[in-house]
Parts: sequence; C-alpha cells; structure tokens
Amino acid sequence: MQDLQQLKQQALNEIRNANSTSTVEQIRIKFLGRKSGLVTKIIQTLPSLSVDQKKRLGPLANQVKHNINQALNNKIIALKSPDHQTGEFFDTTLPGIRPEIGHLHPITLVSREVEEIFKSMGFQVHEGNELTDLHYNFLALNFPKDHPAMDSYDTFFIENKEKDIKLENKRVMRAHTSNMQVKIMESKKPPLRVIVPGRCFRNESTDASHEHTFYQCEGFIVDEKISVANLIYTLKEFLKAYFKKDEVKVRLRPGYFPFVEPGFELDFECMICGGKGCPVCKQTGWVELIPCGMIQQNVFKSAGYPKNKYTGFAFGMGLTRLAMMKYGITDIRLFMSGDLRFNNQF
Ligand code: PHE
Repeated sequence: MQDLQQLKQQALNEIRNANSTSTVEQIRIKFLGRKSGLVTKIIQTLPSLSVDQKKRLGPLANQVKHNINQALNNKIIALKSPDHQTGEFFDTTLPGIRPEIGHLHPITLVSREVEEIFKSMGFQVHEGNELTDLHYNFLALNFPKDHPAMDSYDTFFIENKEKDIKLENKRVMRAHTSNMQVKIMESKKPPLRVIVPGRCFRNESTDASHEHTFYQCEGFIVDEKISVANLIYTLKEFLKAYFKKDEVKVRLRPGYFPFVEPGFELDFECMICGGKGCPVCKQTGWVELIPCGMIQQNVFKSAGYPKNKYTGFAFGMGLTRLAMMKYGITDIRLFMSGDLRFNNQF
C-alpha cells in the first residue's frame, strides 16, 4: 500500500513538471504501461494475494490508477490550451482561487446614506476641492485677514514656490468643506440647495477622537426668504431619517463662525440612551453634532450676489462622527488605519 501511495505522489510530481505532451505520454507508459508500468505491475500481483489482502489493495490500486490517469489527461488538455501556447501555463488540476470580494469603507457607506437623505429633500451633491487657497478656505468666508479664528483651524499650508504670492492665493489643504460655499455660489444662482461631502485636513495631534484627516458634509440653502425655522426643520428631518426615529429633540446653542450670523451649535437628544446619559453623549444626554447658522451677507458679497437680496443657512456636520455613532466605533484612527480586520467588518 505504501508503494502505491509513493508511486502516486511520484507520478503526480512528474506530471506537474512535464512541459510537453510527449513527456506526458512517457509518464503514462512508465506508470500505467500495459506490460511493465510501475502501477500495472502491482495490479498484476493482485490475483496471487489472499482474499483479505485483495480486499485492501484492490480498491486502492484502482483509485491510484484512476488518479494518475486523470492527472495525465488534464495535463494534456492544459498543454494544448491557448494559455499554455502563449507561454502562460494554466494548471487545470489546481483547485480554483476564490476571488476576494471588496468592502465599502464605513465612511463611504455613511456618506452615501447622507447623500440619499438630502437628495430626497431636493439637495444637489457637489464634490469639492481638497486643495484650496486661503481665499476660499477663510477670507471669502468673512474671516478678516490675520484674524485669530483662522488659527483654531490648524490648517496645513502647502509650500508656495512663487515669490510675492498674495495672502489669499496661498495654497492650503481645506480645513473644512465650507471652502466650497463661495466656489459653488460663484457658479450658480439661487435658489440653491447643495451638500458637499468630503475629506478635510487639520494639523492636529491624533488620539481616539482627533485625526488629521476626517470627513465632513457641508450643506447650504440660499433663496429669498430662508429662515432659522427652515434650518431647524431640515436638520431635524435629516436626523430622523438617519437615525430612523419618528421624533427627535434638538437644541441650539450659540456658536461662533465668521461666515454665519447668528451661528449655532445644534445638539440633539442622545438616541443611544434616550437622553438618560451614556458614553456616547458623555453622560450629558445631548450629542453635539452640527455647527450651523444663517449665512453672513459678506459671504454672498464674496460670491458676487447683490446685497441683502438673499438669505440662507449653512451647516457642517462631521461624517466621521456620524459613522462612529452608527457603528459604535470608539477610536477615530481606525478609519484611516487601512487595517483590513477593521474594513472587512462592513
Ligand atoms: N466649517 C465649520 C467647521 O468646520 C462648521 C460650520 C459649517 C459652521 C457651516 C457653520 C456653518 O468648524
């Protein structure tokens, strides 16, 4: 029995290494030749064995013969295939390789969901420039030159090779998706309903809740009679749809951003604990999620809109935060880690 197993291994190895049909035929004769094939010889001894031995050896011998035969035939097919003739040997005896199925990143999943909700409310989705300049990132948004508010954005400056470059033309990685507000307004006339989901960058030291690269979703509406009531209604509708709730409680606290006036921080009652207090809301019962406000008239001025004709609201929500809440992710650094153990869960 051992001899048979060994012969089988030997034959399969030789078949694997064979690279012409004539070699394959030689192997066939060597192992399965009618008179002096190595396997044939063993089979020929079978009649002289005891009944008991026959019972054990017979089926194995046949199996080995069958396996070798099959490998030989497959090899012939492989050698004659176009793959082999182009120089690439395709071994049809090898088991197949299961194709890996990709995963969507959790940020992509959340971004698509947010887009769908806003699209259902008539918003258009815009892509944005990640590389921008001080004009669009700050100055056009009513940040006075040298205003300390710019410092709080920890902006990444790109090295500018040009001499005497003007302040507004200095290139930066966008610190917020608000950099697209004026850019989009310049190319479109109101009424406008736009969201801009995208990647933002800040020069921050990282920890479980800070990351230098993160995602926001900007949104704004511009028309002739837009009010704070429209702002609250829109964001409540969004929250209800995103968290799949019939009702949601929100509160507005004052917030300072030069490009909105009045400016707010919109908090909502924690949906995880129903306002009782839990780790997600840091035991306060409220989650701070959406900075927002009524668009400052100077922003419209930057976009070239006539004075005091339009009103609008803007908001900038953290997509990364939304994803963390949705999937219970406690360390923001996992998103950019590229760790497949993390990505494969979605
Ligand atoms: N862009 C602001 C930030 O990232 C958020 C914001 C957007 C506030 C729109 C008001 C209106 O901090």
